[in-house]
Amino acid sequence: MDFFTDKELIEKINRLRKEKHAVILAHNYQLGEIQDIADFCGDSLELSIKAKNVNADMIVFCGVTFMAETAYILSPSKTVLLPNLGAGCLMADMLTGEDVRKMKAAHPGSVVLCYVNSTAEVKAESDICVTSANALEIAKSVAADKEILFVPDSNLGNYVMHKTGRKMTMFPGYCPTHMRLKKEDILARKKEFPDAKVIIHPESRLEVIELADEVLSTGGMCGYVKESDSRQFIIATESGILHRLRRENPGKLLVPVSEEAVCYTMKMIRLIDLYNSLKKEEYKITVPEDVRIKALRPIEKMLELSAHLNIR
Ligand code: 13P
Ligand code: SF4
Repeated sequence: MDFFTDKELIEKINRLRKEKHAVILAHNYQLGEIQDIADFCGDSLELSIKAKNVNADMIVFCGVTFMAETAYILSPSKTVLLPNLGAGCLMADMLTGEDVRKMKAAHPGSVVLCYVNSTAEVKAESDICVTSANALEIAKSVAADKEILFVPDSNLGNYVMHKTGRKMTMFPGYCPTHMRLKKEDILARKKEFPDAKVIIHPESRLEVIELADEVLSTGGMCGYVKESDSRQFIIATESGILHRLRRENPGKLLVPVSEEAVCYTMKMIRLIDLYNSLKKEEYKITVPEDVRIKALRPIEKMLELSAHLNIR
């Protein structure tokens, strides 16, 4: 087996991405070495918009399976690669298309709002996708006389329900990483850093979210910390975002709520995986065409609504 230093790997990756007209997209939770080499880092909404519009023959998606699937659904003419097939999302895997069909049968005439952290099969059964950046505004845009079914994240759903006052029927899914964020840990951090702004991701439990100064997607967190006059921030989400926040805000203090908030599947892509992916053009992510066509509708609807509502 060949051994390369990081410097050599970076050179090889740079050569290959040029040769293959490839773009490297990375989610904000990726390892620092991946964020640093990516063409673009972002949250789920920003990455979907990028995947749709970017001029490239190949997208190497450094994230988890549902993100690469979404990129393929939006841009089927491009080769979409996920450098490590183990990089799934535990929440997305909690719900099947059949589960959604059963929910719809029990609630005829309802509108299914589907968090993008879901499989293509689940999206294909849904009406509108949402991300953490736009769930609140999109839920508000659904006609008041319509019942909403919200899948698969019950924490995000509870937050939306709490903010809009709108009753929704929820699938009981959750993100195991955000479930590790506890109210007591936030209260302890607040005691330690009383002047810090508390920023919390809406995949957290409602009792945790209630302690926030700001509830934001990972992209929203990056924008907020950059623009804020505050110097100290308590960050309640997956730990990978600290790399980007610290790089972009060298003079500010950024404190994670818990060292335990690590999404292990988000950490499965290393430089060597990215290099192998570009070199061997693996692992190709596709979606059967009939499923892709059906899943495209709720994603396009979300992108249209987001543009209309002026959400990035
Ligand atoms: P955003 O980056 O869209 O806020 O989502 C967080 C997440 O858990 C992605 O898996
Ligand atoms: Fe899925 Fe949670 Fe990991 Fe995001 S952080 S990929 S929602 S398990």
